[in-house]
Amino acid sequence: MKIIRNKDDLRTLRRSWIFKGERVAVVPTMGALHAGHLSLVEIAKQHADRVIVTIFVNPRQFNNPDDLDKYPRTEDEDATRLAPFRVDALYVPTPDQIYPNGFATNVHISGLTEDLEGAHRPGHFDGVATVVAKLFLQTRADVACFGEKDYQQLLLVRRLSEDLDIETDVLGCETIREEDGLAMSSRNVRMSPSERAIAPVLKAELDRAARAIRRGADIRVVLDSAKAQIKRAGFNAVEYLELRDAAHLTSVSNLDRPARLLVAAMLGDVRLIDNIPI
Ligand code: PAJ
Repeated sequence: MKIIRNKDDLRTLRRSWIFKGERVAVVPTMGALHAGHLSLVEIAKQHADRVIVTIFVNPRQFNNPDDLDKYPRTEDEDATRLAPFRVDALYVPTPDQIYPNGFATNVHISGLTEDLEGAHRPGHFDGVATVVAKLFLQTRADVACFGEKDYQQLLLVRRLSEDLDIETDVLGCETIREEDGLAMSSRNVRMSPSERAIAPVLKAELDRAARAIRRGADIRVVLDSAKAQIKRAGFNAVEYLELRDAAHLTSVSNLDRPARLLVAAMLGDVRLIDNIPI
């Protein structure tokens, strides 16, 4: 696995693959790799001849400076974890390769990004859209794998690729969970043992709410009760728990089309998000 730190080296390698007619997949990450990220790598391998994993802790998408400081940086362990997957390149750009001096562009996607995560994390999705646009253009990948764990992000990346005529197909991949249902996340290591014991309540309440909604129970009542249960279990706050249209994230009041239940909640100072299809 080649470790590449600048975009010109990446371009040279990419050109040698295009020359041979090989298909390229990219898996963008911020590192601290876990089984969720590795599942994306496995799927990427099934869709391309060459796989690039990127690691860049993107300062522009952190609306909270403390979260950026505390974000785990584990490049050596990440490289070791990737070794069995025989990835072709690990692209770990230095900050100037993404945001050179004078960088003045901001990619903003309207509508889709203004609600849910967007409402609670100002500027977050502009940071994501800007860096993903750069990573798509720097890697020129034919396909990119993104997790459903960050469902709103997955939809915005699809929109970005389509709106800007970027020839990278975006593939959504299922959320990988711990045995107790907790969605894997690089932030999970920041929970104390007692918080870790409470955390699976989030997924359990999503499942319980989904069952009740499918049975025809009143959606507002079900969601209010799930929020109360999550708080009772020990979460300090539920930022949102919403049933939304799966394609556009607009509000829904019945199940006449595919929907998604999405939640964000604070457990101590760790912010957890999750979602499931209905
Ligand atoms: P990061 O949080 O490192 O996630 C990288 C990719 O892994 C994302 O597509 C995310 O949805 C996926 N992922 C995370 N946990 C997962 C899980 N439990 N199961 C399946 N997939 C999972 O998301 C980002 O980084 C950044 O915003 C990025 C897109 C790299 C832009 O900076």
